[in-house]
Amino acid sequence: MNSPTKITVIGLGYLGATHAAAMAELGFDVLGLDIVPEKIQKLARGHAPIYEPGLDELLGRHVAGLPGSSGRLSFTTSFADLAAFGDVHFVCVNTPQRPGEYACDMSYVDAAVEALAPHLDRPTLVVGKSTVPVGSAARLARRVAELAPAGAEAELAWNPEFLREGFAVEDTLSPDRIVAGVTGERAEATLREVYATPIAAGTPFLVTDLPTAELVKSAANAFLSTKISFINAMAEICEAADGDVVRLAEALGHDDRIGKKFLRAGIGFGGGCLPKDIRALMARAGELGAAEAVSFLREIDAINMRRRAAMVELTRESLGGSLLGKRVAVLGAAFKPDSDDVRDSPALNIAGQLHLQGAQVTVYDPKAVENARRVFPTLAYASSAVEAAQSADAVLHLTEWREFREIDPAAMGEVVGERRILDGRNTLDPELWRKSGWTYRALGRPTA
Ligand code: UDX
Repeated sequence: MNSPTKITVIGLGYLGATHAAAMAELGFDVLGLDIVPEKIQKLARGHAPIYEPGLDELLGRHVAGLPGSSGRLSFTTSFADLAAFGDVHFVCVNTPQRPGEYACDMSYVDAAVEALAPHLDRPTLVVGKSTVPVGSAARLARRVAELAPAGAEAELAWNPEFLREGFAVEDTLSPDRIVAGVTGERAEATLREVYATPIAAGTPFLVTDLPTAELVKSAANAFLSTKISFINAMAEICEAADGDVVRLAEALGHDDRIGKKFLRAGIGFGGGCLPKDIRALMARAGELGAAEAVSFLREIDAINMRRRAAMVELTRESLGGSLLGKRVAVLGAAFKPDSDDVRDSPALNIAGQLHLQGAQVTVYDPKAVENARRVFPTLAYASSAVEAAQSADAVLHLTEWREFREIDPAAMGEVVGERRILDGRNTLDPELWRKSGWTYRALGRPTA
């Protein structure tokens, strides 16, 4: 299919790069913009600025100028080019936590809208995808209409993105739902056209007002965080009562009303979304006079951060009460497997705390070493799990990459100083490790 609707994507990070490639895959001509020229240069060669499974292949299929590509995807750094090209403009820039505050930093979204809108001289739809505090969309819609030569013909809609890193391509091409926050029928019709393929494949399309669309995203992430912190709170009880949180979660999961997903206890949630999104929701609720409604999120955040400290303590205790001079191998630096993202990564945070408390820490991650080194240059890095484990007094499993589950405990046992494995993700098989003479410890699980 070659659609007459032309699409642009502003901000080419995890969200935008994937969205741009997916839109080209759906048959649209797409122009992507980022203010970082190196990112554009990389993308134009068919390489994603981040590690995301399947994304390089998708870019290779569509980036203009690459051999055998559809040529439907190209890039620019000019907002004037963007406005001249597109009918629908997706805003995919990030909204990080503001330093020293709970609220999120809207400056990238605001800057994108301020730069784009003055060029909008014909009927267009600006579609926000970034996660923003409720109320932002209505404010930005007014701003677009004010700045655009097309006036009210330049509309704004909010279409939150629910993609998970590691599954971004899959989640973007076949989302489990599409939420369209709109103020009129034209915007709804445009979004139905953009998403015609997933809608035809059965993806539910939910039309809401602007604030509800913004809130769906905040609420989804608040719920997921709550579920993870719930099971981690139960892990704390298990530790006190000598219970097993893995068996507990399994038994809870059989209850259809609860479900199995997001009940994996361990060192907790991190990444560029959940931690900052629950804090941004607390901040915004406060501004709206509804702070009490989400005061429980403070506890969710606290439980989560406690798990990192608990992992450090478990390591100290296992090493006989002191970390000083102890060799610790850390397997995993990314905040989750199949990603090279180390933003607010529990694994890297724990590695850093152990190092600061006197341990000699060597980190290995299949994809995130480069990013980790930038954040924590003082840690030692290895190029394989076995290399990291050389002479280690303890091996910590902190990001559940498949290759760590496939480690042969007997082989790794040959290189370590002490056969001591601490599983921060509860995904290794304790029996397998114990059979090879390892001491296996994990958060929320009995010692032996
Ligand atoms: C999340 C949301 O899932 C996604 O819908 C939203 O668009 C962005 O934020 P993501 O940050 O990619 O996606 O990761 P997710 O898979 O949700 O995991 C978040 C964190 O929770 C990771 O650190 C993960 O290790 C942790 N986690 C997840 C647990 O500790 N236990 C679980 O059971 C599940």
